[in-house]
Amino acid sequence: MAVWNTGKVIGQKQWNDRLFSLFVEAEIEPYEAGQFAKLGLEVDGEIIGRPYSLVNAPDRRPLEFYYIHVPDGPFTSQLVKLQQGDDILISPRANGFMVLDEVPPAKHLWLVATGTGVGPFLAMLDTQKPWQRFEKVVLVYAVRTHSELSYQERIANLQTLHPERFTYVPFISREVSSFAMPGRIPDAIVDNRLEARAGLLLAAEDSQVMMCGNPQMVEDTMKVLVDRGFKKHRRKDPGQITVESYW
Ligand SMILES: Cc1cc2nc3c(=O)[nH]c(=O)nc-3n(C[C@H](O)[C@H](O)[C@H](O)COP(=O)(O)OP(=O)(O)OC[C@H]3O[C@@H](n4cnc5c(N)ncnc54)[C@H](O)[C@@H]3O)c2cc1C
Ligand SMILES: NC(=O)c1ccc[n+]([C@@H]2O[C@H](COP(=O)([O-])OP(=O)(O)OC[C@H]3O[C@@H](n4cnc5c(N)ncnc54)[C@H](OP(=O)(O)O)[C@@H]3O)[C@@H](O)[C@H]2O)c1
Repeated sequence: MAVWNTGKVIGQKQWNDRLFSLFVEAEIEPYEAGQFAKLGLEVDGEIIGRPYSLVNAPDRRPLEFYYIHVPDGPFTSQLVKLQQGDDILISPRANGFMVLDEVPPAKHLWLVATGTGVGPFLAMLDTQKPWQRFEKVVLVYAVRTHSELSYQERIANLQTLHPERFTYVPFISREVSSFAMPGRIPDAIVDNRLEARAGLLLAAEDSQVMMCGNPQMVEDTMKVLVDRGFKKHRRKDPGQITVESYW
């Protein structure tokens, strides 16, 4: 199997000074929403690659990736320079276990993201699976500032499509907001503000939680969920928490 396929950049959408969505036309084997592909670029005669979650549902094209430009980051400093028509390398196959087929049955699905970690959940929410498998779906999406809350139109569209079953809970931690929750996700679980806002109990008996993004958020949220009786899901030892850390 080839290590890389060569794709074409269709374009980039810039959300603010650091956040971008990259659109790519490329061959990729069938994959599950929630999985990531490796993108590669030749830099100074050497190929460097990094994993990125697919944001488009598997049956939609072009391939879409949502990323943050890390100042001095070896890969993203090159990625931001790409323009329509440029070549980009992509792994022929996507990988990852943060997919709905790995999640045990439950009544409620909580999708918890910081920053660019919202991407794989947007891919899942654009498939039939969450709506076939769960009565209610809550998307919790935490960022520092208003300008970092990307994909609001796509999320509003989900609310229109599933008004009784989809709940969106944004957090903005470093600016005052009239619509988003203040502070951090784990604190809002501990003092029950998250449940109050979602209008739904976060209980291990009937909930599955998927988390993606900042590893410290994943770790801190895991701790407060474990205190509530949740445990990490493993195929051989089923639980209620499935995670993906981005760094
Ligand atoms: C499974 C997996 C999936 C990933 N999917 C995505 C994705 O969809 N979008 C995306 O932007 N990144 C994603 N990443 C991170 C990505 O692979 C790169 O690490 C990142 O784009 C930075 O690359 P870099 O070479 O510029 O800097 P690196 O040297 O790779 O990273 C430098 C530092 O930047 C910070 N950082 C890295 N990624 C992020 C991030 N996403 N948000 C905030 N800070 C970050 C960390 O502090 C890290 O130590 C994913 C990582 C993994 C392991
Ligand atoms: N955003 C910027 O302006 C900026 C500037 C320079 C560099 N960076 C770099 O970019 C990366 C950050 O990525 P990002 O912009 O997506 O922001 P982030 O730091 O991952 O923050 C996103 C959201 O997660 C919250 N969070 C952070 N740690 C948490 C924890 N332990 N538990 C629960 N919630 C937590 C943040 O709250 P808090 O606000 O309370 O932390 C914020 O609401 C870092 O590597 C950083 O060094 C960011």
